[in-house]
Formats: sequence, structure tokens, C-alpha cells
Amino acid sequence: MIYVHPFPARMAPEIALNGLANLPSNFVVLDPMSGSGMVLGTAARLGLSAIGYDLDPLACMISRANGTHVKEDSVRNACEKLLSLCHCINENSVFLPWIDEDDETQKYINFWFAPKQKAQLRILSYFLTARPFISNKKIIAVLKIAVSRLIVTKEPKASLARDTAHSRPHRTITENDFDVFKALPVSLEHVLSALQTDSIKADVKTYRGDARRMGRVADCSIDCIVTSPPYLNAIDYMRGHRLSLVWFGFNVSELGKIRARSVGTENVDNCRIEEALCDFLSVLHPDVGDKNKRILLRYYRDLCTLTNEAFRVLKPSSKATYVIGNSTIKGHEIRNSDLLIAAAKRSGFSVGEQTVREIPENRRYMPLLNGGKSNLTKRMRTEHVMVFEKEA
Ligand SMILES: C[S@@+](CC[C@H](N)C(=O)[O-])C[C@H]1O[C@@H](n2cnc3c(N)ncnc32)[C@H](O)[C@@H]1O
Repeated sequence: MIYVHPFPARMAPEIALNGLANLPSNFVVLDPMSGSGMVLGTAARLGLSAIGYDLDPLACMISRANGTHVKEDSVRNACEKLLSLCHCINENSVFLPWIDEDDETQKYINFWFAPKQKAQLRILSYFLTARPFISNKKIIAVLKIAVSRLIVTKEPKASLARDTAHSRPHRTITENDFDVFKALPVSLEHVLSALQTDSIKADVKTYRGDARRMGRVADCSIDCIVTSPPYLNAIDYMRGHRLSLVWFGFNVSELGKIRARSVGTENVDNCRIEEALCDFLSVLHPDVGDKNKRILLRYYRDLCTLTNEAFRVLKPSSKATYVIGNSTIKGHEIRNSDLLIAAAKRSGFSVGEQTVREIPENRRYMPLLNGGKSNLTKRMRTEHVMVFEKEA
């Protein structure tokens, strides 16, 4: 299977399909943390109505493109037109306010990009974001994905960094001769063949917003939820994605704020630790230490808010499928799956079927400790698929 865009910890395609196959065609599916859009893309190809939320603007772009029908030739023609416009303009004649009026973002770009690619990305950004060269938003979205996957890469392409696709960019080169304009049509062909756009039977709706407060989703309006929440401390999505997002209208400080709101980051807020929750976490994770307990507490409270919101929007007698693996924090195992079950029960769900499956080598996200031999490491290689039901 080829993918539209790299994304760390995407859901296994067969889990998305199992969760959605055989649903009645009038069902409305929700993925409140849609990531790369594995669930939304599968729903769109099955002809189901699907809604996605994600805080990460790049995840929204990818999942929207993954579930939106476009005419391939129209996108190819638009790409040709875009490149001919790009060749007629100088980088100094374009104005990108979120960069040109922000020192921090300029410094960030100067660190991660060499002059040639910076000039080309400025011009592309002008025609795709600052002053879109066509009004068709679906086509613009596909072209943005084609540009972005030249930045979010394993080995350096448009940037000076490697490992951007795994969320941990490292600046490994200082000079770069990569030609973004020349690579764009090839990247677009990759996106189009991954999309198989003719197989998309219904366009998805995606919102950039918080799964803890989905204001656009009415109470009891959703027939089925399939989702995978972030594991505590496993992946910092924004670290890699901001290399791409600074070219699509976001400055560094805005991206930092989005990161701080994301579930699963090692953030501690100044919340008062409620005794009951603290006791519960001590039983589950007795030895993590005070600071880690606060991080855990925030994560657990986030999971509770997520499952409360899922409970609110689901119709009675409907199911929510969650996929989550376990992780470590400073060497301590965190049983995210147990925390999620506790959160779901607190929200009113009953816990149904649970399966544990091995995570294939190419989808692992945690470094293997002790050469991969310890019991802890073995547990890190598994993910839990859990079905929660909102009873009638
Ligand atoms: C494990 S990934 C989802 C992967 C997805 N199922 C796929 O197949 O690609 C978790 C996602 O949750 C998103 N996320 C984190 N906190 C969020 C929040 N408060 N609201 C909405 N999305 C959030 C992250 O941006 C990330 O895209």
C-alpha cells in the first residue's frame, strides 16, 4: 500500500476496514483524532458519510485530501500552471506575512532550509497560501500535500533535515541542491496514485479542532466512532510537521500553542491534583515519581474528556473502537490501554471486545529497549483494539 503523505503511527488499514465494513450506507462515522485519515479515507471509499477532527493542521490537510474526490487531470493541469507562474516571479517580490513579519519564524526557516529551496518554497507558498492561484480548494489541498511530502521526509529533500517524517528532525546537511520545482510533478503523481481518487464515493468533512470539544457535532448524531488517540509521550507530531506548516500560513509560535494543546505531550498544567485521581494512578503506576504523576494525571484527564465527548456525540446502542498501544515515560511503562478503559467506563461506556495485536516492524514508534528482549519491550510491540458501547 502506498500512502498520500508520511505520517507517524498511522492506523493499520485492516483495523480501519474492520471497524467500518458492513455498516449500513446511511451511517455517519467519526474519527475525532483523524491523523493521516486512514479511517476517513476508508469510509469515503465505502461511500459512508465521515467526519474528522484533528488539532494538527497537517493531519487535517492529509486526511481531507485522503477522502476528497478530485479529477486527476485537473490537478495535473493546475500543477503545470502553478509551475509556469513560479518560474516568472522572484522570491523577493512575494510577501508572506506570517513569515516576513515574524523574526522567530524567519530564524527557524533559515536554520532548517538552504537558500535555493527557501526561495522555491516561498514562491510556492505565495501561490498556494498567501494568494491562491486558483479558487478550487480541493485542487489546492492536493498540491499542498505534494509539496509537503517533499519536506516531511526520512532523508533530506527540500529541507536540511532527516527524520522529519518520524517527528524528530535532525539537521544533517548544510548545503542542498534539491530542486523543489522539478520534484513537484513527480511528488504529485505519487499522491494521485496513492489517492486512487476515482475510488472515493463520498467526500469527507474535516475540522481543525479539539476532540475534547467538538462544537460542530451534535449530541447523539454519530453512528460509529473509530479512532486512535495519541499514546502518552510517544510521538510529538508537531516537531516534524511544523517544517511543512511554516509554508502554509502558520508561524512558529502558533504551532507551539497547538502542540501544547495536543493530547499525549509531556505537559504538566497547574491543575490541582484531585485525590481520587491521584490514588487511582498510584494503583496503576505506583513508581513513576511526582513529576511523572502530574504528566500522567493530565493525560488521564484528557482521555476522560475525550471519552466524555465521544459518549455525548454517539447515538445510543452505538460503538466506538479505539486503538492504543502502551508506552514508556523515563523508563516506566505506561499502560495507556488501562487508562483508556478506565476513562471510557467513567464516561458511561460499557467495555466490549478487546484484542491485542502485534505492531508490525514498519509501524513501531518506540525505540526498543535492551535490544528488544525484555518483557517491557515485548509489551511495547503490541497495540490494543477495544470496543466501547453506549448502551441504549
Ligand atoms: C495516533 S494519531 C492518529 C492516527 C490516525 N488514526 C491515522 O490512521 O493516521 C493521533 C492524532 O491525534 C491528534 N490529536 C492530539 N491531540 C488532539 C486533540 N486534543 N484533538 C484532536 N486531535 C488531537 C494528533 O494530532 C494525531 O494526528
